[in-house]
Amino acid sequence: MKIRKAVFPAAGLGTRLLPATKSQPKEMLPLVDKPVIQYVIEEAMASGIDHIIIVTGRGKNAIEDHFDVSYELERILESRGKTDLLEQVQAISKMVSIAYVRQKEALGLGHAILVAKPLVGNEPFAVLLGDDIIDAEVPCTQQMISVFEKHQSSVLATQIVEGPDISRYGVIKGQAVSDEFSGRTYRVEDLVEKPAFSEAPSNLAIIGRYILTPEIFEVLERTGADKGGEIQLTNGLRLLREKQPLHAYRFEGKRYDAGDKLGFLKATVEFALKRSDLGSDFADYLRQLRF
Ligand code: UTP
Repeated sequence: MKIRKAVFPAAGLGTRLLPATKSQPKEMLPLVDKPVIQYVIEEAMASGIDHIIIVTGRGKNAIEDHFDVSYELERILESRGKTDLLEQVQAISKMVSIAYVRQKEALGLGHAILVAKPLVGNEPFAVLLGDDIIDAEVPCTQQMISVFEKHQSSVLATQIVEGPDISRYGVIKGQAVSDEFSGRTYRVEDLVEKPAFSEAPSNLAIIGRYILTPEIFEVLERTGADKGGEIQLTNGLRLLREKQPLHAYRFEGKRYDAGDKLGFLKATVEFALKRSDLGSDFADYLRQLRF
């Protein structure tokens, strides 16, 4: 079955980026001049996805406004003859049509995905987290779709994380599979959410890209809340693995953790350096800084 739909959970509280996220969604913070959620939606579209579902929460109106038509701004830009800017602004609202669904309380990533069930229906779908910005020659979601098409199972994106940082992630225990993806695919045997460094079953950390079969919904409905009252996706995935095969895939590309202050700064600097209109002036500026 073709992957047509993608869910973007964007109802988290973003506490790691406070105070910037007190009154604005972290998904709207700009990397250079574009909100992080736009990078992720562009990745999905470049991977052939044309049904976008954003899970929003309280205080997330700016996301809807960003992808909506802005008549007033367009009229002003037009009257001032700013055609380049006008085209840029119009391109965003013409980009794609988006469905929104609300998660009334931030009850965890698993719960956010469950809220999208009526809009996804009974078909496999992608999940993309705006926290993870991935720079890749072939869009990460497209790589994941290829693995899904080969194995016809849910697929989790992973990357190698060395050292104690592994305990910030969900971690898989898996067996390498021989297929055409150059040793990057694993059959998942178990998953652990944020293990102690000494107990991590591998150095393969789950990051924010998933292809999920629709059976995940039934499983999430049965997944209890954790001590913090949240339904964890990792716990749902453990139950899913008992019912059907689950694969992990070590994607090709570079990931930035834009949900964290240091990761956000690194992404900002590297994306600015890559821009044809800013990169060389910005590099000159960085070179003359004295630390
Ligand atoms: P995070 O674990 O990064 O949580 O969520 P968070 O609340 O957004 O941020 P911090 O940790 O407090 O800084 C991972 C993804 O799941 C979404 C978030 O929006 C983010 O894309 N999420 C999380 C929801 O949509 N709903 C939730 O209840 C929790």
